[in-house]
Amino acid sequence: MNRILGGGVAIVAAYILYPVIRFLSPPSVALGEQSKVFVTDTGIMKRNTAKYFKFLDEPAVLVRLPNGTYTSLSAKCTHLGCTVQFRSDGDYFHCACHGSEFAITGKVMRGPAVLPLPKYQVSVSGEKIFVSVPIEPA
Ligand code: FES
Repeated sequence: MNRILGGGVAIVAAYILYPVIRFLSPPSVALGEQSKVFVTDTGIMKRNTAKYFKFLDEPAVLVRLPNGTYTSLSAKCTHLGCTVQFRSDGDYFHCACHGSEFAITGKVMRGPAVLPLPKYQVSVSGEKIFVSVPIEPA
């Protein structure tokens, strides 16, 4: 009986700690020239749509909001790493693996994920839209 309980506790602990450790570990790709990528041209994306792309060797998403502005986040679920899907019917992200939901800001709306989706900086240069990692405050 103790072995069964011990195994259960170990599984629950791994279920909670794994996403925290993955979130805190550094990206597998070194920052540098890959820390800013071209995603698309302005005028390509309709309002309330998303474009997925690869950023720092991981899935990321650029969303054109209903007001015409853009936002970008990691599309890698902070629970166990599945790619989240943009839901235009409610402006949120849904992870089909275990049901986590994230607001358009990246904030967790529903678990099991506990950490928000990292948000990236969006910049427009001419008619080109770029995404980069946010500059850390000094
Ligand atoms: S990977 Fe488990 S909820 Fe996303």
